[in-house]
Amino acid sequence: PLAMVTAYDSTFASIVDEAGVDLILVGDSVATVMQGQRNTLGVSMQDMEYHVRLVASVKPNALIVGDMPFGSYQSSVKDAVDNAVRLVKAGAEIVKLEGGIHVADQIRAIAAADIPVMGHIGLTPQSVHALGGFKVQGRGDDAARVIEDAKALAAAGVFAIILEAVPASLAAEITAQLSIPTIGIGAGKDCDGQVLVWTDLMGLTEKMPKLAKAYRNMRKEMADAVSEFASDVAAGRFPTADQSFN
Ligand code: KIV
Repeated sequence: PLAMVTAYDSTFASIVDEAGVDLILVGDSVATVMQGQRNTLGVSMQDMEYHVRLVASVKPNALIVGDMPFGSYQSSVKDAVDNAVRLVKAGAEIVKLEGGIHVADQIRAIAAADIPVMGHIGLTPQSVHALGGFKVQGRGDDAARVIEDAKALAAAGVFAIILEAVPASLAAEITAQLSIPTIGIGAGKDCDGQVLVWTDLMGLTEKMPKLAKAYRNMRKEMADAVSEFASDVAAGRFPTADQSFN
């Protein structure tokens, strides 16, 4: 099974790479994680190129997946290829874009330019307004739509597909039907891989989404460290001779 974690800068990219993940996703989640935005819609190509460059600077062993931001591939096939090329020039080895059948032409064209493409279906955060919120997709009769999207993406040439917030049984069915890997987030245990946003994994996120797991409580660890530093400064315990020069 493939393990993928997001990273947006060189420090964290080097940590996740050292930890041995297979793929580093420079996700458009940078909007909510780093930029304090409510959703991912405001991220620009320049933002994504910048963060891909930071991650690529550590030359990780893991493959770098660069996320194509909202507006960078929806309007035309030419835009999609041009912007995928920009992410590759910034250091991405794979590009990812959201959507099903309606982005198959873009995927075909990017793959024809010899750029590996990762799909992303189910809950696609860039479609938050069209979906009426961040909701589980593919329940009941809606399952057929998600299966058709998965097949269309595979036929268009994606090398893997992220399944986000779909019932575990549906993700298992899609995984069994496709010959390419599926990578789940909120899609149960039967996908070929799993992805987490690093701030969720570390327990830095204030309001954890149900689909994520915090492996540590780094929010508390970090706040404790800062408050210890502030108390030491207030009490004259920092710096000591160790941090001072003669
Ligand atoms: O941008 C991102 O971090 C993502 C993951 C949630 C899959 O697309």
